[in-house]
Amino acid sequence: MFIRNAWYVAAWADEIEAGPLARRICGEPVVLYRDATDKAAALIDMCCHRGAPLHMGRVVEEGLECGYHGLIFDTDGVCVRIPGQDRIPERARVRSFPLVEQDGFLWIWMGDPALADPATIVSCPWHNDTINWPHKHTMYPIKAAAMLMVDNLMDLTHLGYVHGSTIGGNPMTHVAAKMETVRTNLGLKFTRWMLNSVPPPTYLRAVPFEGRIDRAQVFEFIAPGSILQLSAADEAGTYANGLPENSKLQFRLFHGLTPETDTSCHYFWSTANGFRADDPVTTEQLFSEIAAAFLEDKSVVEGQQARLTELGENGLVDITTDAARLHMRRTVDRLMDEDSRGLAA
Ligand code: FES
Ligand SMILES: [Fe+2]
Repeated sequence: MFIRNAWYVAAWADEIEAGPLARRICGEPVVLYRDATDKAAALIDMCCHRGAPLHMGRVVEEGLECGYHGLIFDTDGVCVRIPGQDRIPERARVRSFPLVEQDGFLWIWMGDPALADPATIVSCPWHNDTINWPHKHTMYPIKAAAMLMVDNLMDLTHLGYVHGSTIGGNPMTHVAAKMETVRTNLGLKFTRWMLNSVPPPTYLRAVPFEGRIDRAQVFEFIAPGSILQLSAADEAGTYANGLPENSKLQFRLFHGLTPETDTSCHYFWSTANGFRADDPVTTEQLFSEIAAAFLEDKSVVEGQQARLTELGENGLVDITTDAARLHMRRTVDRLMDEDSRGLAA
């Protein structure tokens, strides 16, 4: 089951430069394409003539041409050409999904189109600020439910165990981190403070800290699948009065989890370098360090999904550090309930 009346990342905007892209979203086969005027569109990936997948076709002047017998569909899914006949039946159309291009993403709405309000799309303005926050992005296909990946990001005590050799550092630093949590209508925002801690390996590679450091991580979960993250670090003592405007080390991450099926998802993520913005090598390094760390998450969460599929969830125990994760799950359950009763927007 999925929340349908919500915006999900369907793709990075640059994923469809080369032609149509097939992607299953919330269980449905979707084709994404950009027409001759550069307008991006999302259609059901099945031709209304004989059912061929539309992603096997090509983009032509008037729209997306089916690769089987050449029917052409515009960005609204309306058939605008049938080879060999002039009259186009009214019913010759395929379902189209609301799609909005914003901040480098294509956001899709899988629910009732009448409820799709672009004003509610999660905003990531730093993706457009290539001067101060140069970023890199990609997508990892994950063989696990989207919610398991969100769980992973809501309980960062895994950092010391899953990411010990990369972004994590000492496990107890994470378990002992002080948490400040604020609940919001669509999720929660929390800050983790790790004051006077030993810098983890990747931080030291980024900035030559000489002694202990203050670390802060700000996470905002916005249902159903977006997490905005700011990570910062500076010399120990710097964060005594809260997080300053700028830190010696600071970067932003975007995490977007879009369900593919009940047990698989698309993990869209980006890294933005806010501490040595004029150095492309740093932007590249930050991305590749995080890329390695996220493969560690992928591996553990896919293993978890395999066990849950095999043995079920009965008997799992919640512990104290699950607090943020549990709040997130309650929010999602409430939205799922509203969604199934047609209340969500
Ligand atoms: S199946 Fe698409 S044109 Fe025939
Ligand atoms: Fe992780």
